[in-house]
Amino acid sequence: MQVIHKIEKMQRTSSEYFMNGKTIGFVPTMGYLHEGHLQLIKEARKQNDIVILSIFVNPLQFGAGEDLDTYPRDEERDMQLAEENGVDVVFLPSRDTMYPQPLSLSISVDKRADVLCGRSRPGHFEGVVTVLTKLFNICQPTKAYFGLKDAQQLAVVDALIQDFNFPIELVGVATIRENDGLAKSSRNVRLSQQERKEAPFIQKALKKGNGMVADGTKNPAQIVKETKKFLESQTHGRIDYVELLSYPELEPVKEIDRQVILAAAVNYQQARLIDNVIFDET
Ligand code: PAJ
Repeated sequence: MQVIHKIEKMQRTSSEYFMNGKTIGFVPTMGYLHEGHLQLIKEARKQNDIVILSIFVNPLQFGAGEDLDTYPRDEERDMQLAEENGVDVVFLPSRDTMYPQPLSLSISVDKRADVLCGRSRPGHFEGVVTVLTKLFNICQPTKAYFGLKDAQQLAVVDALIQDFNFPIELVGVATIRENDGLAKSSRNVRLSQQERKEAPFIQKALKKGNGMVADGTKNPAQIVKETKKFLESQTHGRIDYVELLSYPELEPVKEIDRQVILAAAVNYQQARLIDNVIFDET
């Protein structure tokens, strides 16, 4: 496994793979790898000749008061897991390498970002698409892998690839969970014992909401209300949102007559957790 720190070296390496007819699967992450990340790597491994993993805690996507400085890191363990899971190249740039000076341009995300996490994290998705634009140009992947756990991110990246014609196939990967249903997340280590007990109810509440549709409820407002009520009764965490929108457009719906996402975010003392279910009318 090769570890590359510099942009020019990474670009040259990717170009060589491309010229030799190799397909490149790319998994962008912020490190502190867990089984969710590893699932993306496994999918990329199955579908491509070469797997590139990037690890970069992107300052642009963290707002004031968010956890940039305390974001969990364990480079040694990450390298070991990457190697064990068949990664060919780890791209591991420093902050100065990625942002040697303030950017002269910015990308604004006009759709799909003013709802869900975008509403409570202004600038977050701009930061995500900016770093991904750079990473796509640096790593030049054939396919890029993203988790459905961050379904809004996947929807925004889908728009980025379509709008700016990146020649990249986007692959969404199902959420990997703990045995009790809690979605795996680098931030789960920050939950207190009590919070850890309550957190699986985020998924339980969303499933219950989904179940209402199977039972014949087609009214989004009613589903959101019941889901929120159940979640409130099961956790002390502060609910940031429970929302139901079309997916991947992320627009309000009057009834469940297409693919939709029911998503929630809960703020615990030291961690903000998100989860979702995506389903259609049946
Ligand atoms: P990070 O939070 O490290 O996540 C990297 C990728 O792993 C994302 O595509 C995310 O959706 C996926 N992932 C996280 N938990 C998962 C789980 N339990 N099951 C399946 N996939 C999971 O998302 C980011 O980093 C950043 O925003 C990034 C895209 C790297 C841009 O900086």
